[in-house]
Amino acid sequence: MGERTAKPRAKVLETAPVSAPALKISTPVVTEAATVVSALPVIAGPSLLDALDRVEGDTLERTCEDLGECTRCKLHKTRNKIVFGAGNPRAELVFVGEGPGHDEDLQGLPFVGRAGKLLTQMIEAMGLTREDVYICNVVKCRPPENRKPEEDEVATCSPYLFRQLDAIAPKAIVCLGATAAQALLKTTDSISRFRGTWFDYRNTRLMATYHPAYLLRNPAAKGEVWKDLQKVMAHLGLQPRKSSK
Ligand code: URA
Repeated sequence: MGERTAKPRAKVLETAPVSAPALKISTPVVTEAATVVSALPVIAGPSLLDALDRVEGDTLERTCEDLGECTRCKLHKTRNKIVFGAGNPRAELVFVGEGPGHDEDLQGLPFVGRAGKLLTQMIEAMGLTREDVYICNVVKCRPPENRKPEEDEVATCSPYLFRQLDAIAPKAIVCLGATAAQALLKTTDSISRFRGTWFDYRNTRLMATYHPAYLLRNPAAKGEVWKDLQKVMAHLGLQPRKSSK
């Protein structure tokens, strides 16, 4: 595939550098000094269009009810269970993945397979539990053979993700992998070019990092992800989990 050029269409923020231990850590130093920079094209603040998009007084329950036993795109034909999302409806931190895989499709819950176990470790390394955060995906039905969701599927399903994020109103959103980042930042740019950078998504800090499934294939990238998560922790005022030794 050729080089993709579109840049993320959101405000970019920059955070001071932090130390970069691997994912299994004891007590790394976390610092924060965020400033807005304008290296990339920006959308300033919540726009009139954002306001029109929002459903007044929306909740996760209403969003889930509206989704119903969805047949809006072709993914419904092969899914077993819809995977709406799980976790704290008032979470300060939301993780957004790509779409359910085999285990998630069977259980109706996000990130419960191998990648999910790694995500749980990442969350716990941040000093949190899965119950503290909210976890969801761009598409709510498993794409066949775990292929990437197609453009029409993302376009059909992402309004429910936007509603979930609006209803939760977290302090930070972490996009796990390119599909989530590209859907929320409306870019086709490669994630390696903008991961670890703060963006403004409808007045909420958003950062993209590598997907846990990518880390399972490329464990050497865990250090980069930990650096990204430390920036998130600094923003949320979190201390990493104390080592059990
Ligand atoms: N990968 C995802 O992107 N989401 C899941 O829920 C599981 C695996």
